[in-house]
Amino acid sequence: MLGAMSDPAATADLATRLGAILRRDQIDTSTSALDLHGRGESWDAVRRPDVVVYPESTEDVRRVLALAYETRTPVTPVAVNSSLGGHTVPVAGGISLDLTRMDRILEIATEDFLAVVQPGVTYPRLNEALRATGLFFPVDPGAEASLGGMASTNASGTLAVRYGVTRDLVLGLELVTPTGRVVRTGGRAPKSSSGYALTQLLCGAEGTLGVITELTVRLVPRPEAVMGARAAFGDVRGAVELVNAVLQAGLPVARCELVDAAAIGAIRAHLGLELPEAPTVFLEFHGDDAAVRSATDVSLDLARESGATAAERATDPAALAALWRARHQAYYATVAVNPGMENVITDLAVPVSRLAEVIEASLAAAARTGAPTYLIGHVGDGNFHLNLFFPPGDAAARARVEAAYAEMVNLALAAGGTSTGEHGIGLRKLPFVRAEHGDAVDLMWAIKDALDPAGIMNPGKKLPPRTGA
Ligand code: LAC
Ligand code: ZN
Repeated sequence: MLGAMSDPAATADLATRLGAILRRDQIDTSTSALDLHGRGESWDAVRRPDVVVYPESTEDVRRVLALAYETRTPVTPVAVNSSLGGHTVPVAGGISLDLTRMDRILEIATEDFLAVVQPGVTYPRLNEALRATGLFFPVDPGAEASLGGMASTNASGTLAVRYGVTRDLVLGLELVTPTGRVVRTGGRAPKSSSGYALTQLLCGAEGTLGVITELTVRLVPRPEAVMGARAAFGDVRGAVELVNAVLQAGLPVARCELVDAAAIGAIRAHLGLELPEAPTVFLEFHGDDAAVRSATDVSLDLARESGATAAERATDPAALAALWRARHQAYYATVAVNPGMENVITDLAVPVSRLAEVIEASLAAAARTGAPTYLIGHVGDGNFHLNLFFPPGDAAARARVEAAYAEMVNLALAAGGTSTGEHGIGLRKLPFVRAEHGDAVDLMWAIKDALDPAGIMNPGKKLPPRTGA
């Protein structure tokens, strides 16, 4: 059993011991701080930590984890706290380790196409710092997320279809282990066949194997030319048909998003973008001028062949930028047009050949709940979101939505897909991990036990209970 947290005497003792290794302003037990760190972005589970700690260096993190190990205190790392799956809710109490003060960009090495950053640096801020270099960091989740959090959940976003997910873009890490050791994984070489792939293991570990205190990330050249296309359809099936056709044609797709009529309605209402309310595919191509021009032409032909009701190119860079800004805020737009409501969001990913049937069946399952539902998705890599809303006090509505959620995950798994293409397991998808991974879960527990023998790191997340437990 982990330490007797939430016992006021134990909390006072923990705060005293933290006070011996950190400054007073790095330790917060105020109600507002505990409330703020007691919930995530889209999850109704609320559990306050006993104390919020703000490390400012690797050494601070090391000391905190050594103390946590000794006292068997749960530690839940957090930064921007944009998780949609409950990852940052400290369900066992203990320490909420807030890394937002570790926000320095330590190095930008343009000739090596890499940057070294602390975990609290957000990706928009890194890209701002890279503006003059001709390079950028190409993972762009909806939230203005921190790189530590993005690595921890293996986040992605609209550009993953072209540039890969966070895990593909992390070359090396500094980690403080759950027993309080500082280790480095990976390196600076563009590739390596040395050692076990610990960097890749830690990317996506959701803070259950230690605390990332530094990241070496790949940068990529900004594309020479960018062009987009937009195609509206009478139904979602036609839209997905276009997606498949574009992928099969081998076009240099950098973004390939599907937004349904309801989500476009939310974007219009909240962000004022004048788009027709129909299922719409948004495409963007990166490459040289001739390549993006011809890709756009081909995609418009394919759109007409797939039955698009309207299809047009987007060449104006300012208009394209405004469109993608709106897309980034699409989730928040759906929340804003449903004030006071709770929501759950899927992030299923399936092989693209199964996308149409899984999206259609998921929409049907969602429709049976009667819940307002919005489809937005990174369909170029088989990944899509359904965001379902229900009134907070309505237990029956919640139960219907939860049942539909499980049905949708099972549809994805049956199609060879995954419960989570980008948001991670957290708490929300725990019930589906065993079905997705089978006995591989036992290997995951073996790794967890080896690295975190006291079980203090983000307990209750990522891994379902052990078999027979
Ligand atoms: C998005 C987030 C919800 O795609 O993943 O906007
Ligand atoms: Zn997404």
